[in-house]
Amino acid sequence: MGSASMASTLVGRLEGKVALITGAATGIGESTARLFVKHGAKVLVADINDELGEKVCKELGPSAFFVHCDVTNESDVEAAVNTAVAKFGKLDIMYNNAGIGGKPNPSILEIEQSEFEKIINVNLVGAFLGAKHAARVMIPNRRGNIITTASTCSKIGGGSSHNYVSSKHGVVGLTKNLAVELGQHGIRVNCVSPHVVPTRQSKEFYKMDDEGFRGVYSVLKGVYLQPEDVAEAVLFLASDESKCVHGHNLFVDGGVTIANSKFSMFE
Ligand SMILES: NC(=O)c1ccc[n+]([C@@H]2O[C@H](COP(=O)([O-])OP(=O)(O)OC[C@H]3O[C@@H](n4cnc5c(N)ncnc54)[C@H](O)[C@@H]3O)[C@@H](O)[C@H]2O)c1
Repeated sequence: MGSASMASTLVGRLEGKVALITGAATGIGESTARLFVKHGAKVLVADINDELGEKVCKELGPSAFFVHCDVTNESDVEAAVNTAVAKFGKLDIMYNNAGIGGKPNPSILEIEQSEFEKIINVNLVGAFLGAKHAARVMIPNRRGNIITTASTCSKIGGGSSHNYVSSKHGVVGLTKNLAVELGQHGIRVNCVSPHVVPTRQSKEFYKMDDEGFRGVYSVLKGVYLQPEDVAEAVLFLASDESKCVHGHNLFVDGGVTIANSKFSMFE
């Protein structure tokens, strides 16, 4: 590959694309919005946090636009998708990223039904509504790309509370089923599964500071996951470089989910 074509793969990987990112006012969603704009995309920043969402868009300039959107509210999600089309002409990439951790309440005996449902509503129903309304505008174009943030909790148990782990396993099931249906229309569907990343949500949930996060990787030494690392994986899934990747759950976890940290002959 010549140096000019090599350079073209390094920037502008989303040139001309329009993306809607939920939960983009902070954390992983914000990092992804910034990276997408850097790569030439127009981005709808959708969040319930108007103040931070507007701030991110102001910093990103005319390529970004904020829309208030509670992912558990179908009319909000419908309006956000319609705004993407009205403002930027189409929707190429739907990134269902909004999610909450809820209370770190480990026991099945203590968890209230309302708390269980709250997490399922944001993390799983929110992704369903995002996919539904994205598909509505993508199917007629016979192309599109839907990505959802799952978690290492989509594969292993014990890393979080029952509601969160259930919601993230659900997201993977939704992704596989959507991939089968929407693949018929040329729409790709995948999810990304980070291990613990220092963001507002995880710091609150695990009551850890930045130093604490350094202790959660047991397989790939010297790697400390940051929101930007997850954004790079999402960029891959969103770009044409991954055109044959479909129905996949991409782990960004330093290998944590491949090993049993309590039983290894290499430690
Ligand atoms: N941080 C981690 O360790 C980690 C690990 C694996 C997966 N995840 C997942 O990554 C995603 C992003 O989390 P984060 O760590 O960046 O958290 P964060 O708290 O930094 O950001 C989440 C964003 O979602 C928004 N949000 C919350 N409820 C919403 C709703 N109903 N509608 C719209 N927006 C809403 C918040 O306002 C916030 O801006 C979540 O799905 C989370 O479950 C996080």
